[in-house]
Amino acid sequence: MAKINTAVFASGRGSNFLAIVKAIRKGSLKGVNISLLVCDNPSAPVVYKAKKLNIKTVLINPDLYGGREEFENKITGYLKENKISLIVLAGFMRMLSPSFVRAYKNRIINIHPSLLPAFKGRQAIKDAFDFGVKVTGVTVHFVDDRMDHGPVILQKEVRVDKDESLSSLEEKIHRVEHKLYPLAIKLFSGNRLRTNGRKVAIKGSR
Ligand code: GRF
Repeated sequence: MAKINTAVFASGRGSNFLAIVKAIRKGSLKGVNISLLVCDNPSAPVVYKAKKLNIKTVLINPDLYGGREEFENKITGYLKENKISLIVLAGFMRMLSPSFVRAYKNRIINIHPSLLPAFKGRQAIKDAFDFGVKVTGVTVHFVDDRMDHGPVILQKEVRVDKDESLSSLEEKIHRVEHKLYPLAIKLFSGNRLRTNGRKVAIKGSR
């Protein structure tokens, strides 16, 4: 069976990128092939990780383009060239335009470190911690044209213990992310996800 050519978009540390590549290399994501890392930040640690893992990287500096459309057209060129059919956002710190999202409808997924719709935005773990929630978590969702929004694929809760620090909570959340994202990709690649535009049903689950 042909593998799903996947591009990971990332801007930073790349721990989710690494977790996904490891899951593939140890054989638990058989239907998927990471064809490309797309990165908008040349000094991001994810770039070095990709190099070490021998994964083709496309560095696209948005400052060198006349605007978002030009920037995204450049990316689309690479996606087409590499026959990409799944885009995995893993800490990509940029909103994609509605037309880009439309072009890849139901083929862009994102991971967010909270139980959406709570605590959207860049500082979700800290915001939840500062708010004093007892439970937070991780969400994997299809991407639509709103930030941290779109049909939910998987969610997993993470308890905030009594003596929890922000850094221990961050660690717990990232550990959950590194399991949940490969699982969501596995469901996608096994054709197990059905979306009706707002909701996702996972075949063979409740
Ligand atoms: C993760 O917490 C993810 O949920 C969020 O950005 C962070 C990326 O971390 N969207 P990393 O670069 O994968 O380590």
